[in-house]
Amino acid sequence: MTLSSKLAIVFLALAAAFAGGASAQTAGDPARGKTLYFDHGCYGCHGYQGQTGARNLVGTNSPIIAKPEVFLFFLRQRGNFLPMIPSTAMPRFSEKALPDPQALDIYAYIKTFKLDAPDVASIPVMGQIEASAARAYQAGR
Ligand code: HEC
Repeated sequence: MTLSSKLAIVFLALAAAFAGGASAQTAGDPARGKTLYFDHGCYGCHGYQGQTGARNLVGTNSPIIAKPEVFLFFLRQRGNFLPMIPSTAMPRFSEKALPDPQALDIYAYIKTFKLDAPDVASIPVMGQIEASAARAYQAGR
């Protein structure tokens, strides 16, 4: 088991515990959240609509974005609680760098994202590219 998978397990356990005990958060404002989403560079890794990049923020059924409490916990885990643990790919967002009210505004904005990318199988040329890549892969083995 790698260090990162161990950390993922610790994180998920803590997130579950935290989400169970957290009090209700004040709802954020998606219009302010939109500006903050750009100001903090979230779009650079998650796309303008959360549908591209390092990790999708829509259509994933992820528990991290199911509840604002878990979202905040995810943002804070390395920034506030475990600042010595080296970053993976997502930057740290401590409470100092991105206070709760603003983080909740971003959360409200993320929740407005709608999955509208077409299914790959519905685009004929994508099927051709896929088949061609599979043939090239087989030929190269
Ligand atoms: C430099 C790239 C980068 C930036 C900038 C970034 N993220 Fe991420 N984000 C990632 C990566 C990579 C992951 C996957 C988990 C990890 O490695 O930490 C992730 C995961 C997430 C997740 C969890 C997704 C899931 O599977 O549920 C959320 C939510 C998220 N980011 C929100 C944000 C927000 C909000 C911002 C801006 C404040 C932001 N990210 C900025 C790279 C980035």
